Amino acid sequence: MTIAIRYFTQTGNTKKMADAIAEHLGILAKPVTDDLDAKADILFICNSVYYIGIHKSVKEFIARNKANIGTLVNVSSAALIESSYKKMKKIAKANAVNLLEMEYHCKGSFKSIHKGHPNDEDLKNLIAFVDEVLKEYK
Ligand SMILES: Cc1cc2nc3c(=O)[nH]c(=O)nc-3n(C[C@H](O)[C@H](O)[C@H](O)COP(=O)(O)O)c2cc1C
Repeated sequence: MTIAIRYFTQTGNTKKMADAIAEHLGILAKPVTDDLDAKADILFICNSVYYIGIHKSVKEFIARNKANIGTLVNVSSAALIESSYKKMKKIAKANAVNLLEMEYHCKGSFKSIHKGHPNDEDLKNLIAFVDEVLKEYK
């Protein structure tokens, strides 16, 4: 099974999450400017919301790479919204890409809100989520 990790970050929170997954799995987390060079059975798409939307570079990455994406797994943080899942679902649907129902979301620091998040506990929960996802695929 091939696993890949891509992220988009503006203030570092999403990279922190992507790197935690990468360290746990022993692979590299790359920015969405790096296209997939082979099929990824599972693609952890680490993202967030900016002005109520998922950044266009994430949308464009999925559109460009849809042929190489087996299943997308949504991993997100945000200051206010509960998850980017619904928005990601629309992107996945528009590109006929499978999006796993399980997802991971935590609070993400923004200015003075949620300082320190994602924190150690958020990252620990993220790793537990990753293990849960991979168990489903064994
Ligand atoms: C320019 C900007 C716009 C944002 N807009 C929203 C928003 O509309 N809703 C929300 O819940 N969080 C919003 N946030 C908070 C981010 O989703 C949150 O800080 C997230 O963890 C940022 O991830 P990053 O550090 O990887 O960029 C915004 C943050 C920035 C920097």
